[in-house]
Amino acid sequence: MPNIFTRSANRVPLQVILILLILATTAVAAVWYYYPPQYTRVGYMPKQPVLYSHKIHVDQLGLDCRYCHSYVDQSGHANIPDSQTCMNCHSQVRKDSPALAPIRESFESGKPVEWVRVHKLPDYVYFNHSVHVNRGISCVECHGQINEMTEVWHDKPLSMKFCLDCHRNADQYVRPLDKVYDLTWKPESREAFLKQAHERVVDWNINPPQSCSGCHR
Ligand code: HEC
Ligand code: HEC
Ligand code: HEC
Ligand code: HEC
Ligand code: HEC
Repeated sequence: MPNIFTRSANRVPLQVILILLILATTAVAAVWYYYPPQYTRVGYMPKQPVLYSHKIHVDQLGLDCRYCHSYVDQSGHANIPDSQTCMNCHSQVRKDSPALAPIRESFESGKPVEWVRVHKLPDYVYFNHSVHVNRGISCVECHGQINEMTEVWHDKPLSMKFCLDCHRNADQYVRPLDKVYDLTWKPESREAFLKQAHERVVDWNINPPQSCSGCHR
């Protein structure tokens, strides 16, 4: 009997080490779980080569998103416009503004402006713009009030949970198709909107993927 006590007493330091190890692992796991990129990337606002303001061009001038992001409803990828698109106006409007010098240089040399990418999913995630915008999902759901931004920042997490929250409850988001590009649109009543959104989901046979292979192909 005394032997047993001695042996279990000898095991104490090992148990302490094990407990410490478990605590350390939990701490690492907690940091990994609670601070993955989706939380830190919200608010990301890199400095751009030209201070292009969506507030001026969308809110004040009333340009449609598709004037510049012309593939957004036609392909999986949304494009950034080339300097020709800007020069449609800026060959006349503010044509000598120093703020527009990089645009004029790019237009003359044919070298694209080096805009810094703001939104980027990891390569192992499949995403398609046209599928969303042609199903009544507005830009504002994933990019926030871009129309009010003088500089673009990352407004929504775009994490897996974020995508799934909508895929599981799409009938809370689907708009009439002519309101997708109108980021200021507010339905008259939330109740009526939910009822109509639900009808659209049924009528258009909307069923966003929830299985892993839907987004990880
Ligand atoms: C006159 C052209 C123009 C119009 C109109 C326009 N944009 Fe943009 N947009 C740009 C340019 C140029 C950039 C890249 C520079 C930047 O990020 O500020 C950009 C960047 C963006 C980005 C960030 C891209 C990234 O790097 O991740 C989003 C999102 C975006 N626009 C959404 C919209 C939405 C939504 C609308 C309509 C409400 C819109 N844009 C209208 C020119 C335009
Ligand atoms: C439909 C016409 C139109 C297009 C297309 C357009 N702009 Fe503009 N932009 C304007 C107008 C008008 C103003 C001036 C607003 C004012 O005077 O307050 C302006 C102002 C600006 C300014 C501020 C200039 C200054 O001197 O402070 C910048 C920078 C700018 N635009 C960048 C761009 C870029 C980059 C693009 C292409 C992605 C673009 N614009 C496309 C009409 C346009
Ligand atoms: C369902 C969510 C969602 C909606 C709705 C959405 N976007 Fe995006 N957008 C994204 C994601 C996610 C990315 C990053 C894509 C990637 O990394 O492949 C992105 C990237 C972009 C980019 C950068 C593309 C590049 O290659 O630099 C632009 C521009 C853009 N979106 C514009 C728009 C516009 C304009 C609309 C509305 C007409 C819109 N988006 C609607 C999720 C969305
Ligand atoms: C606000 C709602 C909403 C958000 C947010 C959203 N989706 Fe979707 N998604 C939809 C709807 C609606 C459809 C269309 C389903 C249909 O037509 O059956 C869809 C379809 C898809 C499809 C199927 C495309 C195809 O070609 O079959 C993929 C993949 C997808 N979404 C990925 C994503 C990813 C990745 C994100 C996050 C970055 C995301 N979605 C965020 C609503 C959303
Ligand atoms: C609606 C689209 C969608 C579906 C469905 C989906 N994922 Fe994801 N998943 C994403 C996105 C977006 C990311 C990138 C998250 C980020 O970068 O923050 C991601 C990231 C991941 C990661 C990387 C770790 C992490 O959390 O960032 C793993 C692992 C993963 N997904 C596994 C799965 C499994 C397993 C399933 C099925 C049960 C699944 N996903 C279903 C969109 C989806």
